[in-house]
Amino acid sequence: MLKNKRILLIVSGGIAAVKVPDLIRRLSERGAHVRCILTESGAQFVTPMSLAALSGDKVFQNLFSLTDEREMGHIRLSREADVVLVAPATANIMAKMAHGLTDDLATTALLATNKPVMIAPSMNVMMWNNPATRSNVATLQKRDVHVVGPGAGDLACGEVGDGRMAEVADIVAALEAFFETRKKSGPLSGYRALVTSGPTIEPIDPVRYIANRSSGKQGHAIATALSDLGAEVSLISGPTKETDPERLYVTRIETAEQMLKACQNALPVDIAVCAAAVADWRIADAASQKLKKDDGGAPSLALIENPDILATLSAGVDNRPALVIGFAAETEDVIAQATAKRERKGCDWIVANDVSNGFGGDKNTVHLVTTAGVESWPTMQKREVAARLATQIADHMRQQK
Ligand code: C5P
Repeated sequence: MLKNKRILLIVSGGIAAVKVPDLIRRLSERGAHVRCILTESGAQFVTPMSLAALSGDKVFQNLFSLTDEREMGHIRLSREADVVLVAPATANIMAKMAHGLTDDLATTALLATNKPVMIAPSMNVMMWNNPATRSNVATLQKRDVHVVGPGAGDLACGEVGDGRMAEVADIVAALEAFFETRKKSGPLSGYRALVTSGPTIEPIDPVRYIANRSSGKQGHAIATALSDLGAEVSLISGPTKETDPERLYVTRIETAEQMLKACQNALPVDIAVCAAAVADWRIADAASQKLKKDDGGAPSLALIENPDILATLSAGVDNRPALVIGFAAETEDVIAQATAKRERKGCDWIVANDVSNGFGGDKNTVHLVTTAGVESWPTMQKREVAARLATQIADHMRQQK
């Protein structure tokens, strides 16, 4: 459940911060990416160096650090996460959260985030039971902040009672349960989706092929985003360096013809997103033996057209998905070309992007072309494009009900 999940871990200043290295280890073992913000008082208990070494990422500490703001920016830091976890959460940081105070990087990121927040409180029993803390916890819970722990037992201050930060295993379990629940109750639960991703490769002979530069990053991110909203996703992918996302049915293929067959096997689905860069042509008669240089000069390669998967799915009579989405990677007149492509292919939406600077980066600038018109989105990480597209798909499916 935690594989590839991005956790922004805010470490505030309690003695339980000494358990954070173990927490990062356990989360990383499960495939999560942890990025830390360490408060000034948190740094009294655990060093930025140990958090950086264990998380494999920079540790962010200062709201007014020019370098940090240039590299990342506190808004981006708070947005580029699937969940924000505050562990340990002191009485002080909880009070600031409840009242919307922002006097350091941690509290600013917490106020700026649009992501779910979980806190693992840790403090003295009297502080925990103080009406001020009780009221702050109630306020936070009313705002859907998830609270894990605290447990009862010996406290570092020598007193006994409630206030011990939840055990590392319990925090990990709470995060897993959070993602599990979100998936089950997601707006796309009960829907089936098919996503194509990556390039196709078309053989010339057993060792050579025609390919393209598609990285599969956008298609894989869309498949993951749909699954995160609860859809049951079949991902049909050409050869890419992207790893197979967990919880998805992944079929790896090489050629366009194989991709079409795999898509047809995945039907019926409610939603189809064709993000693959399918080769338009294949070699008419690929050689069964390796072509030799001394076989009489350079071979001439006759090409024939590949099946158009997007158009085929869109034209389906009995089993057309309710929503078919294609991509248009263009180098000029992006919107005009995409609008024409939507008509030509018979799909419902087109996600158009300008690839004049090439394929394969982590960011994408897209325009969404639908019957209602064209929406131009700002440049975003491909994961964010995927999340926004998945949300729009979910809204559309709800309206069609
Ligand atoms: O025609 P063009 O390749 O520009 O169209 C791009 C869109 O069509 C993408 O959504 C791509 O996945 C899809 N496509 C397809 N099968 C093909 C060619 C393109 O599904 N043979």
